[in-house]
Amino acid sequence: MREVGIGIAGFGTVGGGVLSILQRHAHDIQARLGARIVVKRVVLRDAGKSRPVEVPAALVSTRLEDLLEDPAVEVVVELIGGVDQAFDLVAGALARKKHVVTANKALLAARGDEIFRLARQNGVDVYYEAAVCGGVPIIRTLRESLASDRINSLMGIVNGTTNFILTAMAERGEAIGPVLAEAQRLGYAEADPTLDVSGGDAAQKLCVLAQLAFGSRLKPEEVLTEGIMGLSPDDFVWGREFGYTLKLLAVARRCGAPGTPGAEQIEARVHPAFIPQASLLAGVRGAMNAVVLRSEALGASMLYGQGAGAMPTGSAVVSDIIDLTRNILSGSPGRVPLPPEEALVRLRGHAEIRCAYYLHFSVKDEPGVLARIAATLAARSISVAAVQQREQPDAAAPVPLVFVTHEAREADVRAAIAEIDRHPSTLEPTRLIRIETV
Ligand SMILES: NC(=O)c1ccc[n+]([C@@H]2O[C@H](COP(=O)([O-])OP(=O)(O)OC[C@H]3O[C@@H](n4cnc5c(N)ncnc54)[C@H](OP(=O)(O)O)[C@@H]3O)[C@@H](O)[C@H]2O)c1
Repeated sequence: MREVGIGIAGFGTVGGGVLSILQRHAHDIQARLGARIVVKRVVLRDAGKSRPVEVPAALVSTRLEDLLEDPAVEVVVELIGGVDQAFDLVAGALARKKHVVTANKALLAARGDEIFRLARQNGVDVYYEAAVCGGVPIIRTLRESLASDRINSLMGIVNGTTNFILTAMAERGEAIGPVLAEAQRLGYAEADPTLDVSGGDAAQKLCVLAQLAFGSRLKPEEVLTEGIMGLSPDDFVWGREFGYTLKLLAVARRCGAPGTPGAEQIEARVHPAFIPQASLLAGVRGAMNAVVLRSEALGASMLYGQGAGAMPTGSAVVSDIIDLTRNILSGSPGRVPLPPEEALVRLRGHAEIRCAYYLHFSVKDEPGVLARIAATLAARSISVAAVQQREQPDAAAPVPLVFVTHEAREADVRAAIAEIDRHPSTLEPTRLIRIETV
């Protein structure tokens, strides 16, 4: 029986899951493939560290170059994370005509273009299912299952850490500080959670997804990105009054000049958003991930599952290894083409984004304030869908006044807020949360 040799770089959470699955499911995988996947080498940094999954000592190395130099390694599985060393490893593998599987969204978001070009030049494959939403097969869905369709929008909960935090805040009414500490204690958040809570991780993932869905070529710094640290328990209380729950969403959608080649644009943004409590994404609790796609032929569809962890993520990596092995066995690398070099759509400026808004004003309790705010919004064509005011027992305290708007242009909303915040009767900066009807 034909053997396909693989080398695993990185033996942490995901690397351990990959080896476990390859060992536990070896028989089934062999039956499905008609070939054996053989791990030739496992590279890690600290050979003395104790690990939950054991590796046969003969396979262990601390030199990444071993994977490149060993001719028996046909597929390099990059699971070390980070950008620079991972890029050198992946580029070295592709240059030697070895196929690559990676789970590394940071690498793909920063240097995906170079990696895909190298793969094309060398006639080899790069698979990266685990890079977005862990075990949820969103990449394969976009590359293969919906290849017939035209996707108009994607909207997802793609970061389990922030979804865990927001779910706990919504359900227990707690502030973000203690909930983040709990997430760290339970292993849902890193010791340094910045990349997650800032929305940066979700922006990297959105770049990877939008490239497949729309043919964009975005860098994470181009995505409008707002994190969750500014959210307060009060935002959840207000949201509930309007029938909403609060999620960190990654959103990309087509807008402007539909169907006109070269003139099409997409919005790309990551930010906390109110969504209807009855929507599918509102039911995505805890550390779970989900993506809702809207495409012309299929309509709305949703993928849901575990976005992280050794076994879910390991299963996505092993599925990639199996797919790649099928290409090797059938002599058809590049069977599923990588995203095109040319961008098919441009990014719409963030000022032109259109959605509905929740605007929370803190104002003096005096006559005419509500009418003045309404007039300022109306002067910029911002139409109001609902208004709520909360009685304050203390007459000197700021009165919270909440407006929910119909769809409006971001630049107009920002300009109206700036004008309202300059007025002496506004006591605190206005809070803005976008609303998505998923
Ligand atoms: N964890 C998840 O649930 C998850 C989900 C989706 C995607 N991912 C992605 O998967 C990748 C791996 O994540 P992880 O959570 O498994 O990371 P991790 O637990 O920190 O493991 C990283 C592994 O890489 C090894 N390593 C790092 N630099 C190395 C080097 N220069 N040479 C040799 N070995 C090196 C480390 O060795 P030592 O063990 O000796 O230190 C460790 O075994 C990342 O790109 C991550 O974004 C992770």
